[in-house]
Amino acid sequence: MFKSPQIDQMTEADLGRRDALRVIGCLLCAAAVPAVWSQAQAQSLSAPLNLLKPTETLAADEFKLMSVAGDPAILYASKTQIVGGVKRGQVWLTVYSRICSHRSTVVIDPPQNQVMTCPKHHQAYDLATGQPTGYVHRTSDPLAQYGLQVRPDQSVWITGLIRPQAG
Ligand code: FES
Repeated sequence: MFKSPQIDQMTEADLGRRDALRVIGCLLCAAAVPAVWSQAQAQSLSAPLNLLKPTETLAADEFKLMSVAGDPAILYASKTQIVGGVKRGQVWLTVYSRICSHRSTVVIDPPQNQVMTCPKHHQAYDLATGQPTGYVHRTSDPLAQYGLQVRPDQSVWITGLIRPQAG
């Protein structure tokens, strides 16, 4: 199909402006998210936070999406031991941040087969470890992880960060 050079030039100019706006938007987001994260880190350490009541249960591979001091997080139950996790009944529990360690996109999709995937550049994370996994290698930094405590009544509490977000 014929296109006039003028139309092609306008399209390239538009694309250039759009790319510039995208870069500015990314820079603003990159500057804003760490500030929010730092504030949430401080808040999350100030007092234990109740996650599960004594009678609430999670079976292996079940999860619960939540926020911790305003930050998106996921409580995950594994049938195998999780470093930094706690054992409760037949499963190991842990809580990871859902802020991608590549460029801080919030992971909104529920996990499948023990893997949580960032929608932005498709980095996958293994929920048994919080480490990046799969064929997409956007980062080698794991997800931030919170420490948990199981109290004698079997309620589960977040006690603070045990692995902060890298960077
Ligand atoms: S922001 Fe998550 S993979 Fe890039």
